[in-house]
Amino acid sequence: MTASPFTYRLEQPADHAEIESLHAEAFGPGRFARAAFRLREDVPHDPALSFVALAGDAFVASVRLTPIRIGDRPALLLGPLAVKPPHKGRGAGKQLVRIALEAAREAGHRVVLLVGDEPYYGPLGFVRLARDAITLTTPVDPLRVLVAGLTPDALEGLGGKAERIAAAPTEYA
Ligand SMILES: CC(C)(COP(=O)(O)OP(=O)(O)OC[C@H]1O[C@@H](n2cnc3c(N)ncnc32)[C@H](O)[C@@H]1OP(=O)(O)O)[C@@H](O)C(=O)NCCC(=O)NCCS
Repeated sequence: MTASPFTYRLEQPADHAEIESLHAEAFGPGRFARAAFRLREDVPHDPALSFVALAGDAFVASVRLTPIRIGDRPALLLGPLAVKPPHKGRGAGKQLVRIALEAAREAGHRVVLLVGDEPYYGPLGFVRLARDAITLTTPVDPLRVLVAGLTPDALEGLGGKAERIAAAPTEYA
């Protein structure tokens, strides 16, 4: 097995400019209208559950988790996940997801939701619930609404509207 070319650590404030520029490059101006963006709009991501990948000292990739609600249950939204183009396909994306999920589990969270491709996220533990079991406030392809349960029974009875939590009056990175 080849050793990973990357190291991973928690995101720090000094990473914000690199992360913002990666998001702009990966998702373009349309990112502000995406369903997932609207779910975390004005809500700070959790810095204890958001990670970056590095190659040496160089920033390579980022994943963020942000608190949301699904029905009456607390949950986390995973995303954006993005990897700088020269480093794609070398495992950073999947490893960031694994690390973020494990940190969330250790912190006592039970459910993580994302809007993304099932073939990529399925092997990482994400599943689709029954059609329209979870609705979003912004139109979204229901086939892309995926959840991961962090405890054995976390997905039982899960459903309802996925919503952003009340915005906190704090810096938005
Ligand atoms: C999607 C993304 C995060 C993947 O990160 P990565 O570090 O390149 O991916 P990994 O190295 O962890 O995994 C690579 C594997 O996933 C596959 N893969 C990548 N994107 C995929 C997708 N959208 N659907 C299915 N499989 C995908 C690759 O084909 C590769 O498969 P292989 O291991 O069989 O060769 C990265 O390509 C990216 O930043 N894309 C632009 C932003 C984006 O779309 N983010 C996701 C939003 S939901």
